[in-house]
Amino acid sequence: MNIRDEDPRDWNAVFQVITSAFGHSAEAMLVDALRKEGDSVISLVAEQDGQIVGHVLLSKMSAPFAALALAPVAVVPSRQRNGVGAALIRCVVERARSEGWDAIFVLGDPSYYQRFGFDKGAAAGFTSIYAGPHFMMLQLSPSLGATSGELRHARAFGDLV
Ligand SMILES: CC(C)(COP(=O)(O)OP(=O)(O)OC[C@H]1O[C@@H](n2cnc3c(N)ncnc32)[C@H](O)[C@@H]1OP(=O)(O)O)[C@@H](O)C(=O)NCCC(=O)NCCS
Repeated sequence: MNIRDEDPRDWNAVFQVITSAFGHSAEAMLVDALRKEGDSVISLVAEQDGQIVGHVLLSKMSAPFAALALAPVAVVPSRQRNGVGAALIRCVVERARSEGWDAIFVLGDPSYYQRFGFDKGAAAGFTSIYAGPHFMMLQLSPSLGATSGELRHARAFGDLV
């Protein structure tokens, strides 16, 4: 498996991957809108045998420090439970760390994201429309300078129903 930055030529395949993973196109349309509005920061694809089988995106968000939102992550159903999702998440986290970002927020199942170091308690002090038991933060920099404050995801998330 090869993980690399997406290229505009991948966009149609990425749309199909996300739609097949979720069973509908709302998250794929979110990715299109995030790109269009300049809010996509790191977008990686996983390739196997020349096919794109997975995708992960980090997008801009407003926070008291330099933070990114992880969403969505998707693996085609036929390749799930083979470590593709974990490899994509580990890779995107290391990219964000190496580019100097302070933290990543994610809304998801804690039993999945905790294995990558995402923590519910770390996110609990922040105000967000996604705040709650499924909202987590992964701290990347040694010191954040804030354990509370207001978070705002990129505009396109508001269209996700
Ligand atoms: C979530 C997803 C990206 C994981 O990718 P994957 O390649 O199947 O995951 P991995 O092979 O790296 O990891 C598999 C492990 O994750 C667990 N897992 C997978 N999806 C999970 C979920 N939604 N919630 C909790 N655990 C999950 C599996 O139980 C498995 O655990 P195990 O190793 O203890 O058996 C993939 O299942 C997917 O595309 N799902 C549909 C889209 C989605 O829900 N995305 C997440 C929200 S943005």
